[in-house]
Amino acid sequence: MAIVSKPLVSPDTFTVAILGGGIGGLAMALSLATQVPTLKNITVYEQAPAYKEIGAGIGIGVNAGRILKRYGVFDAANAISGDRNGIHRSLRRWDNGDEIVSVSAMDEDEANGGVRQLSVHRAEFLQVLYEHIRYTTCAKLETNKRAVEIVDDAKGGKATIHFADGSSATADLIIACDGIHSNVRRQLSKATDMVPRYSGRVCYRGLLPMSAVEKDWPYDSFAISWLGPDRHFLVFPISQNKTLNVVAFVTKSEAELGDLKESWSSTAPRSEVETEFAGWEETVQKVVRSMEPNPGKWKLNDRELLDQWVYLGGKVALSGDAAHAMLPHQGSGAGHAIEDSFVMGQAVKAFFENPSLGLETYMKLYQETRLPRAQKAQLTSRQAGDVYEMQGPDFDGLHFDQRLQVIHDKFKDRMTWVWGHDLEADFIATRTRLGL
Ligand SMILES: Cc1cc2nc3c(=O)[nH]c(=O)nc-3n(C[C@H](O)[C@H](O)[C@H](O)COP(=O)(O)OP(=O)(O)OC[C@H]3O[C@@H](n4cnc5c(N)ncnc54)[C@H](O)[C@@H]3O)c2cc1C
Ligand SMILES: *[C@@H]1O[C@H](CO)[C@@H](O)[C@H](O)[C@H]1NC(C)=O
Repeated sequence: MAIVSKPLVSPDTFTVAILGGGIGGLAMALSLATQVPTLKNITVYEQAPAYKEIGAGIGIGVNAGRILKRYGVFDAANAISGDRNGIHRSLRRWDNGDEIVSVSAMDEDEANGGVRQLSVHRAEFLQVLYEHIRYTTCAKLETNKRAVEIVDDAKGGKATIHFADGSSATADLIIACDGIHSNVRRQLSKATDMVPRYSGRVCYRGLLPMSAVEKDWPYDSFAISWLGPDRHFLVFPISQNKTLNVVAFVTKSEAELGDLKESWSSTAPRSEVETEFAGWEETVQKVVRSMEPNPGKWKLNDRELLDQWVYLGGKVALSGDAAHAMLPHQGSGAGHAIEDSFVMGQAVKAFFENPSLGLETYMKLYQETRLPRAQKAQLTSRQAGDVYEMQGPDFDGLHFDQRLQVIHDKFKDRMTWVWGHDLEADFIATRTRLGL
């Protein structure tokens, strides 16, 4: 046995700063507090004046649901979820609603844990995470703290964050969960894409009371995507089936966008959606007519792949959308942010078991475990958007019925690698490979 020397660092005095209090940042705080309970100094710095946000429906697959269960928040999240009846998506024809393929949500039965796919309102889900942190006091939650710059304090072995209000904070580990526009990524990475990448699609977003459409609903699930050339129309239930979340996607070139800003809060008149989806199946028409007068209108963006998430000798790590912003076409962005949080917790725990190897070694372990999987999700999410709208070489020269067969084959088992994944085994395998 090696002689046990005095540890270089102890969790009692180790400070963690999490920049950004979205789903990724709050899950990160819960992960560290749950997996390294001896950590006493975890602070989340959110730029907004409150932990309440805009946003609409978000899907969270069972891969992430199993992690939420370990953090003790699955039941509360489940209670605010919609019920998809075990179906991730029923893909249907745009014109007559006939089913192309039904994609299972891969929910667990009660005997195997009872975790099911969640469909939540982003703001309600953030509230669940926020209240759990407040109740357990496992992390400090700051607001109005917009991080503008990180400075390496080489001598002290820490790094300092400067905020827009003139204040600053020092930490041993800074985890940047500051989203698709990440300031930290901009400052530290050598990436050449300084702004998000437009995907070639916009989406209209609506939230309508289920009571407006549920009568005579012709399908056995409210989780449906109608697919047509250059357009697709998605609905799923949130908030205990009380609300139907609507996302209507349309292919648009950059030139056709006019002055549409990249924003979570821009809107357009409903008549635009009516025009775009004129002639679609009657259920779609009914949903469109029930949308609010000015639904949201978003440019759909992601980021280029980034091969380095760890900076300043392991003192800074990117996580969630800051590391791997992806398109929503596989409903995976929140789930991958939650996976990051879990692996980061495991890595920090492993670091304290052998701190003499240095924090950077363990931050690399985090990156090596997560990066290949997250990048695969970025790429396959792009591809999924094209398949939904029958674009790309796989559809060239095919007539409509043949195209439906391609969609069927590509979606039947598409999500198994995401939802059926054993993340803990993945972490252990990477750790072994790196000799840790
Ligand atoms: C307002 C909003 C609404 C959204 N709505 C939807 C939706 O309806 N459907 C969907 O699928 N996805 C939505 N998303 C994206 C989705 O939340 C993310 O893809 C996913 O949850 C990964 O989350 P994240 O925590 O990495 O990033 P985000 O959810 O983007 O969270 C980043 C957080 O960091 C904060 N922040 C940013 N810069 C700084 C800074 N410099 N200093 C401190 N804090 C900072 C932001 O205010 C935000 O709270 C939304 C994101 C936002 C910000
Ligand atoms: C919610 O809707 C689904 C159909 O998507 C249905 O099977 C389920 O019973 C409903 N659940 C509740 C709680 O109303």
